[in-house]
Amino acid sequence: MCLPPRVLTNRELERMVDTSDEWIQERTGIRERRIADADMATSDLCAGAVRQACDDARLEPAALDALIVATSTTDTLFPSTACWVQRKLGIKGMPAFDVSAGCSGFLYGLELASALVAAGHRAVAVVGGEVMSKVVNWKDRGTCVLFGDGAGAAIVTPGDGRSGVLASNWGADGNLAPILYQPAGGTQMPASHETVEAGRHTVHMEGNTVFKHAVVAMSSAAVAAMRDAEVTADDITLMIPHQANLRIMEAARERCGIPRERMYSVLHKYGNMSAATIPVALHEARSEGRIHDGDVIVSTAFGTGFTWAATVLRW
Ligand code: ACO
Repeated sequence: MCLPPRVLTNRELERMVDTSDEWIQERTGIRERRIADADMATSDLCAGAVRQACDDARLEPAALDALIVATSTTDTLFPSTACWVQRKLGIKGMPAFDVSAGCSGFLYGLELASALVAAGHRAVAVVGGEVMSKVVNWKDRGTCVLFGDGAGAAIVTPGDGRSGVLASNWGADGNLAPILYQPAGGTQMPASHETVEAGRHTVHMEGNTVFKHAVVAMSSAAVAAMRDAEVTADDITLMIPHQANLRIMEAARERCGIPRERMYSVLHKYGNMSAATIPVALHEARSEGRIHDGDVIVSTAFGTGFTWAATVLRW
């Protein structure tokens, strides 16, 4: 994983908007988050995460045969952030592209990587990375307290038939797109003085609606993936849900019938890093010795689109 060093605490936010540490902790579970420096782009964090994942996999980045970046906070409208990551890693040749599926992006990328490996690829990097701090309205207390910046990566390679993706479930409902989006800057509403002045380049979100849909979609996708993987809640050693709000995570976990002590969270220290939350949590769980060979892990996510995805893995 790769996180910016700057920590922004709830106490500091109290001085920026009308909020309190108590409100943020009680309603979301977040205590602090990381914020990128002004000169740091999403590709910097993604390149750092891919470099570390390659070291861990004892693989040169040049040996990757595909690079998938999941992000909603792209470096530029074009080319893809994946191409900027290639440039920062000094690699070329392999296909490189972005997946735009919001907070579900890492699991969408994992599903694609898994399919690429099944089709003959040998080493596919999937990285979820975001610099949410640059698209958040720092005057809107309903959104600015939620998000953080970071990136996490995985290298997907052919397995031995025992470990890997057991089953997954993914989908989208674009009819709900206006509930959570960044209105300006694309072809619907190109950038102008007016769009900048009206703050249309920042996150627009109906928090309550997102909340309700997230709980249902995350739990339904996880239950469907577990059914297809032929595992029960008792078989799950660790649940790593997308980390948006502890209340969403807890409600989804309960609906899946997985005990509280088997859910892993890093939300309190990093906030909602959108596509980066699952790979960062996976990395930290592994570093803390919470994941062992043979473990069955379920991961589930929900995000802008709306999109949703769940994956059951045998480690
Ligand atoms: N500090 C203090 N008060 C606040 C803050 C804040 N930061 N934000 C909102 N409030 C106030 C509201 O103005 C409202 O006041 P009112 O009753 O006087 O009108 C009150 O708190 C309650 O607001 P609600 O929106 O009903 O609060 P809720 O319990 O729903 O929590 C939240 C809001 C945290 C945004 C929640 O709805 C949520 O987490 N939704 C999911 C959003 C999300 O995670 N989006 C990320 C992208 S998608 C994904 O990752 C799943």
